[in-house]
Amino acid sequence: MKKKTAVKKRDGKKATAKISPAPRTLDAQQNYDKVTWKPGTMIYPLPVVMVSCGNPERGYNIITAAWTGITCTNPAMCYISLRPQRHSYPLIKELGEFCINLTTAELAFAVDWCGVKSGKDVDKFKEMKLTPVPAQFIAAPMIAQSPLNLECRVTQIIPLGSHDMFLAEILAVHATKKYLNPQTDALNLNSTHLLCFSHGKYYQLGEFKGKFGFSVQKKKKKPSK
Ligand SMILES: Cc1cc2nc3c(=O)[nH]c(=O)nc-3n(C[C@H](O)[C@H](O)[C@H](O)COP(=O)(O)O)c2cc1C
Repeated sequence: MKKKTAVKKRDGKKATAKISPAPRTLDAQQNYDKVTWKPGTMIYPLPVVMVSCGNPERGYNIITAAWTGITCTNPAMCYISLRPQRHSYPLIKELGEFCINLTTAELAFAVDWCGVKSGKDVDKFKEMKLTPVPAQFIAAPMIAQSPLNLECRVTQIIPLGSHDMFLAEILAVHATKKYLNPQTDALNLNSTHLLCFSHGKYYQLGEFKGKFGFSVQKKKKKPSK
């Protein structure tokens, strides 16, 4: 039997989606320790980034975004999803570019503030004492205090409902020199105390649990005596 679920569309009207329950191959009794809720944005933790945008003529702005991520390795691509009501939305849509600035525990206050104040009322760079620095390929500035900045050019805008997804190509990545190993030039990103967003709260990245591929890595033999 198909169940009807109300979904709110951007025009405020309600649409109904038909959801068919999955065929019952498992014993329903085995779902004993789960509660079931309506659809929701419950994938956590997420990175929380400061997106800088604008140009000298239109002015600069910063918007905090958690609906963000990588979409492709080669070419390097990413996305941000924005509500059209945001002050940043037309800046990014019309100029076709933005910069993703990764955030750290030290930047947590500014991250939250840039996510509750609008650039139509305040100058977020000035109020949060953040320094705009020039990017290489885009007119939007990068945030100097962020350890890693990704210059992005919009390739596609996909309307999804409440948010539009800006799919973008990553044109260049800029890292703060002090996070590079002076001998090898390798980036030690995890020494920056990256910030993430989980279920309405900010956390600094926690305990180290293993390296990529550790589950299949052969253990080093102890040298025989
Ligand atoms: C932690 C956090 C995450 C957010 N993520 C998003 C997001 O992914 N997309 C979005 O449109 N707004 C997001 N917001 C809300 C905007 O940052 C907020 O509305 C901001 O004031 C918009 O700024 P602007 O009007 O200057 O563009 C988020 C806010 C916070 C605090």
